[in-house]
Amino acid sequence: MAMLPSNAGTVPKFVDRLPIPEVLQPIGLKDGEPLYRVRMRQVMQQLHRDFPPTTVWGYEGTYPGPTIVVRRYRPITVQYENELPDTHLFGVDTTIHGAEPFRPQVRTVVHLHDGDQPADADGHPDAWFTPGLRVTGPRFTTNNYRYPNRQRVTTMWYHDHAIGITRLNIYAGLAAFYLLEDEAEEQLGLPSGPFDIPLMFQDRTFTADGSLFYPAAFPGDFFGNINLVNGKVWPFLAVEPRRYRFRLLNAANMRFYNLQLDPPLPMTQIAGDGGFLNRPVPLRELLLAPAERAEVIIDFTGRQGTTFTMTNNARTTYPNGTTPDANTSLVMQFRVARPPSGVDQSRIPEDLPAGPFPRPSEVVKVRDLTLNRRQDHLGRNILLLGIRDLDGRPLPLTWGDSTTEKPLLDTVEIWRLINTTNDTHPIHLHLVRFLILDRQPFDVNRFMTTGELAFTGPAVSAADNEWCLKDTVRANPGEVTRIAVRFVHYPGEFVWHCHMLEHEDYEMMRRMEVQER
Ligand code: C2O
Ligand code: CU
Ligand code: CU
Repeated sequence: MAMLPSNAGTVPKFVDRLPIPEVLQPIGLKDGEPLYRVRMRQVMQQLHRDFPPTTVWGYEGTYPGPTIVVRRYRPITVQYENELPDTHLFGVDTTIHGAEPFRPQVRTVVHLHDGDQPADADGHPDAWFTPGLRVTGPRFTTNNYRYPNRQRVTTMWYHDHAIGITRLNIYAGLAAFYLLEDEAEEQLGLPSGPFDIPLMFQDRTFTADGSLFYPAAFPGDFFGNINLVNGKVWPFLAVEPRRYRFRLLNAANMRFYNLQLDPPLPMTQIAGDGGFLNRPVPLRELLLAPAERAEVIIDFTGRQGTTFTMTNNARTTYPNGTTPDANTSLVMQFRVARPPSGVDQSRIPEDLPAGPFPRPSEVVKVRDLTLNRRQDHLGRNILLLGIRDLDGRPLPLTWGDSTTEKPLLDTVEIWRLINTTNDTHPIHLHLVRFLILDRQPFDVNRFMTTGELAFTGPAVSAADNEWCLKDTVRANPGEVTRIAVRFVHYPGEFVWHCHMLEHEDYEMMRRMEVQER
């Protein structure tokens, strides 16, 4: 059958089964603790029934990579090896800081997103290494990362973070799940085993020969015209008429997903980025910005014979851009087609083990940070993070500017994210988890011209499904978003950034120095 993957409309939808990534097994012990090995490899993979095999990059040669499943308080070490070719899968735009022509094209470093780990195991963007470790970045110390796994149980992910080319490396396929579990969670009685399924959402564009397409010149914004889940184009999942736990991850470069089921069926959210909500929140739609996670229970009981399509209506860019088309508005299908394999013993507890949250009495500092849009010397949009100058006006800063965020270890700060741009930016802090307090609209023009922060409406508390530990927060345009952050466990240099990868790669990322008291 002749079919052009470049034309999304001609691609048959819901013809491939949803793949579920393998669980990675340790290769041995290191100092008595499990040792895992993750090799990055270029491989050919079938992303759709009718596509020729696509060249991708995969951890352990699969896209997405294998899932790492660990117990809380049981540290592991992961040995990362770069076995990629020396030439990048995509054109590397060398006008982007960190990707200058004198640097090797293929550089990788792995960040465990939401990981509570020391700075030298955090995957700093300058801690990259090339195939065979021949060249290493200025902050490289090791490619063996020890993860203490001491935080609350949650759905995490590991992905590439190399300076200036993160968008390309993740787009090529370098992303995977990392699940933290414990005994207390098992007592909750949530759907488990084959009924606990991770879903990684991404958008991609293909060329006519089935290759991944990404522009060689830095595009500013880039959205794919095809949705993939767990590395398959518009897949379907056959389910039993019972409850399922799904771990949803938006791993797209830039695309927001606002997910619904058609015909309508509630999704009950039980957890967000960094752990459980206080109580389950039933939702008709669920918004996920890049890097956000949500765990939901979907109850297919009594729905035998029904097919539910998961749809998306989030605008690109969010929230003021264009609505998804007939293709990007479709994500995947759930077919209640399998007979029940037994009695569904699972339940959704009324109370969930959320927190612990930072308390207002613990706050030692309020920090004002600005989100800004400028033009670069080539007339391109450049999005920047910054502080306020002496008059209170936004002072945009770049990756190269000296560090301004220097929180003290074991203290709580409130960060006010003052978004002067037209888009929502998912702001992510490494190392920590935080609580979203509220969002309040302000007069952007007045702020830009006089430096006065004048609110134009009331502060609105975080949504019901945001009352959990978070590591990524949506900072909406024209709003001040307040988060309360506890800086714990490890001093050193970490980063915070917008998780839209095209923004992160092009200067919307800053260092953060956690200082010993
Ligand atoms: Cu998900 Cu700095 O990363
Ligand atoms: Cu992170
Ligand atoms: Cu952004």
